[in-house]
Amino acid sequence: MATTPPNEQQQPATPGTAPSEAPVAGATHLLDRTSPEFLARAHGVYSDLRAMGPVVRTPFRGDLTEGAHPQGSPERQAHAAAGQERFFVTRYDESVSALLDDRVSSDFRSMLTPQQRELMAKAMPEEFKPIAYSLLMLDPPDHTRLRKLVQPNFTARAMEALKPRVQRLVDELLDKAEQAAAARGETASERRMDFIEDFAYPLPIRVISDMLGIPAEDQARVHEWAERLMQAESQAAMQDQKLRAGMREFGSYLEGLFERKRREPTEDMISQMVHAQEDGDRLSHQELLSMVFILFFAGHVTTVNLIGNGVVALLSHPEQHARMLADPAGMAKGMVEETLRYWGPVDYLSTPRIIKEDLELGGTHVPKGAKLSVGLASANRDPQRFANPDAYDISRPDAHRNIAFGKGIHVCIGAPLARLEAQIAFETLFQRFPKLRLAVPAEELRWGTGVAMRGFNRIPVLF
Ligand code: HEM
Repeated sequence: MATTPPNEQQQPATPGTAPSEAPVAGATHLLDRTSPEFLARAHGVYSDLRAMGPVVRTPFRGDLTEGAHPQGSPERQAHAAAGQERFFVTRYDESVSALLDDRVSSDFRSMLTPQQRELMAKAMPEEFKPIAYSLLMLDPPDHTRLRKLVQPNFTARAMEALKPRVQRLVDELLDKAEQAAAARGETASERRMDFIEDFAYPLPIRVISDMLGIPAEDQARVHEWAERLMQAESQAAMQDQKLRAGMREFGSYLEGLFERKRREPTEDMISQMVHAQEDGDRLSHQELLSMVFILFFAGHVTTVNLIGNGVVALLSHPEQHARMLADPAGMAKGMVEETLRYWGPVDYLSTPRIIKEDLELGGTHVPKGAKLSVGLASANRDPQRFANPDAYDISRPDAHRNIAFGKGIHVCIGAPLARLEAQIAFETLFQRFPKLRLAVPAEELRWGTGVAMRGFNRIPVLF
């Protein structure tokens, strides 16, 4: 029997006639992906919202734009208490349209008055600016210029060349887990590991560190900073002195590394970017720093969660598990795509898109200046796009049409890398350890806290 951890509601969506004004959702529909309780019931909320219309107005909690209002101001307090209302795109077709529409800006500063920009700049500690002003939050032409610089590192050819390295890392991590279990006297099929800590967490960070060119001896230190940085999404986290100190250390470490790569370039992304910087004014210093930060930030926890979510989804759906065990090499790709669709790491884009001109989306009027978020997870369960969307089915023929990586000019640059890592991980794991199973009932697993992503902090398994 398939279990649906943790406590998801499932309700049929009833498509309504599209109104010209977006319907307004109530406080029970407050979207807050930083809350594990919200994540546990989110698919029920999305289903309600889809039934209301393709675009609805609903309250959101927590994002970087809070800082545009002065501390203690009624706007800031209201933001914190009840969330701030935004347009939310609930259905698949309209989500794709919104992500492809160049009247929809990713630069949240475009809606701020000069005074608000100034306030926001003041409210944001220097250390966090590289994250706040990254590729993700730029419009063309700056976005196009910066994206072009790193894109060649993520082509199909580049991924093909990376395969043996990822396979070796996967094998090494699994060898290590086996050795640690042997040292504790545990025998095959009764060995224990925490799947996140021992496997899913270290894999992507080692891959991206290698690609960037962070020397092996520095990686442990860098990983620690990167981990702290992941908690930096909210304004509250930004005031944390320890976090800020870590960010400063990370920043000055990177400055030193850029200098080393300038003197002695090697075959890696930081060397390439440093070179591009010297080659003309294609990349400012702030942009270089920001690019390295975002590659770490956007690519790490997301991939950890894709791998963790896939394993939990599979192990809690016995008939899918049996299919995977029968043919790990043949089914791994389908498992990756279905996991992205069913439990993608990013439920919705938390920094709002800004509407630059009045527009119609799914027959709904969205005015200039409005804030809008695309519900990636909601779109991926839209019954008008995916048959029986709440079922986890690794042989679903159209699972690859999911939009877990977004769409349009900001579509995830690291998607081919995340797919490669997850595919090799799933295939190797189920080939090598067919007895792999959860060490606790699936219902006891809870969505994690801290990083505003859909994923588990711990997954105890036996193997
Ligand atoms: C399962 C893993 C991942 C998921 C679910 C994911 C999700 C996303 C999404 C939804 C976007 C679009 C955001 C938007 O439209 O505003 C995005 C953008 C981005 N991702 Fe990923 N990501 C993953 C892995 C990675 C990896 C491995 C890297 C790099 C090594 C990466 C780097 C980036 C960058 C740099 C952007 C910004 C692209 C742009 O603005 O042009 N991501 N990601």
